[in-house]
Amino acid sequence: MKLCEHIPTEFFCEDGCTAAHRDEIASLGGRALIVTGGRSSKMNGSLDDMTDVLGKCGIAYSVFDRVEENPSVETVMAGTKAALELGADMIIGIGGGSPLDAAKAVALMAANPDRDAEFLVSGGNGYAHPLPLVCVPTTCGTGSEVTPVSVLTYHDRRTKGSVPFKIYPDIALCDGKYLMYAPHRLIVNTAVDTLGHLTESYLNSAADEHSRSAAEKGFELWQGNRPLLEGEPLTAGGCTALMTASAYGGAAIAHTGTGIPHGLSYTLTYEEHIPHGLAVGYFLAGYVSLCSDSEIHEIMGMTGFADTHEMDSFIRRTSGGTGIDRQLASLAAKRLAENPKKLSTAPFDADTAAVEKIAYSALSAD
Ligand SMILES: [Fe+2]
Repeated sequence: MKLCEHIPTEFFCEDGCTAAHRDEIASLGGRALIVTGGRSSKMNGSLDDMTDVLGKCGIAYSVFDRVEENPSVETVMAGTKAALELGADMIIGIGGGSPLDAAKAVALMAANPDRDAEFLVSGGNGYAHPLPLVCVPTTCGTGSEVTPVSVLTYHDRRTKGSVPFKIYPDIALCDGKYLMYAPHRLIVNTAVDTLGHLTESYLNSAADEHSRSAAEKGFELWQGNRPLLEGEPLTAGGCTALMTASAYGGAAIAHTGTGIPHGLSYTLTYEEHIPHGLAVGYFLAGYVSLCSDSEIHEIMGMTGFADTHEMDSFIRRTSGGTGIDRQLASLAAKRLAENPKKLSTAPFDADTAAVEKIAYSALSAD
């Protein structure tokens, strides 16, 4: 099914999803490079499920399992080399946001072997369409399986950023059982990222009826399964719901982009290695609190929080976040001020004072 009018990706979500959609996978190519991380896809069964299907379909494959958290341009170029050595005609990303984002960039670069790493930074014209791409998420946060965005780490610029191309997966295969193997802290962090996507998209100045409708569906699933983040035992159904909420968040931001909390978060992740979800979560309540009363009321209604204070304490408590220091908050605000496009996504006038207020809302209590 399509999650949103704007999204071309076919989204499938069910138990045994990879095996159930082997024909769709096989229709995309005959030589597949699997792009994944070093551990989790081996532990949760997602890699075995995929290689089983590829074997049964007679699809040649190799596995590039060197994707790190917050993947770098250098990693993408190494994955591209592996794809070219295999003669891959399709790419399969398995894992959290990092492997999926890396897989997108590899799909682009493997289709354009004459381009070098600078192409991922500066863009260009006259390039070939990315190789067909399948994405299998194993966390519940990025929504990368249905977005065109690939966020990479640019070490020379000391930050993260999106590659200047839209790379939509052709197929997303979502199976809640993979999430049951994830550490609780990772589930919380990725679910807070989803909360950020839903909130930032819903409030975004570029939101339309389709993106808001996708966000509303995501909020409903997210709120209904919030107790799982506070320690209630995981169920396959709950995990599937959190993963689907994540995909709806992805569908929503695919249209609007993310907002100020994400813009501020990148500095925290780059400078202090704060996990992406928590880094976003630190700024969410402060961001919402600058919106109009009716917008705050809407967001609280859809998330189930009484007010922004409860939202903030939930995020800090479940994510184990103790806050950041003034110097880091100030640096994040300064860097964001250089990104007027991101500032224009806010539903209020995001001047310097507003951005600093949001940034300082992430300070530690002491
Ligand atoms: Fe995010």
